[in-house]
Amino acid sequence: MEVWEAIRKKRAVRDFKPEPLQEAHIRRILDAGRRSQSSKNSQPWQFIAIQNHDTLEQLSKTGNFLTHVAGAALCVVICVPEPNDRTLWHFFDTGQSAAYMQLAALEVGVGSCLGTIYEPDTVRQLLGFPADLQARILISFGYPADQPERPPRKEGRRTWDDVIHLEHW
Ligand SMILES: Cc1cc2nc3c(=O)[nH]c(=O)nc-3n(C[C@H](O)[C@H](O)[C@H](O)COP(=O)(O)O)c2cc1C
Repeated sequence: MEVWEAIRKKRAVRDFKPEPLQEAHIRRILDAGRRSQSSKNSQPWQFIAIQNHDTLEQLSKTGNFLTHVAGAALCVVICVPEPNDRTLWHFFDTGQSAAYMQLAALEVGVGSCLGTIYEPDTVRQLLGFPADLQARILISFGYPADQPERPPRKEGRRTWDDVIHLEHW
């Protein structure tokens, strides 16, 4: 799949087939995150990859819009250092790693959806990562339950003229 095709077609997928991901697909996704660019090449992330159904179920309760996690085949929780003077860049960087993982997933037929963690302390306890790390974002992955290619959403994206400014505002 061409990169441009992936960018154009990518949609959030929240309903997954109840089947595990191929090991090669899991490795591809995680490796894409590991290879992402980051500010000063700081690579501030740790990725926790979860396939255990009980853990996925518990994670799905740590945010208001995380129901998609319960039915996922894989969830990647992205950890970064607790707030410090680099936090702005940490979240910029992890946003990039998330996009890389999601695009790499799409190429091998795996759907994904981001999720916002509202209860970071619960997630830390559940997954056992050190106190100097925080997790605010996760990603659900799985083979899409519906058609792999959903049509563009009705409201689409903001128009070119609304967001692009050539040379000057
Ligand atoms: C930072 C961030 C947090 C998000 N959190 C959630 C979430 O908690 N639950 C959810 O279902 N989708 C979440 N999403 C997914 C967005 O709703 C989705 O990317 C957006 O609606 C565009 O969807 P589309 O690409 O299918 O048009 C999040 C996306 C981002 C970028």
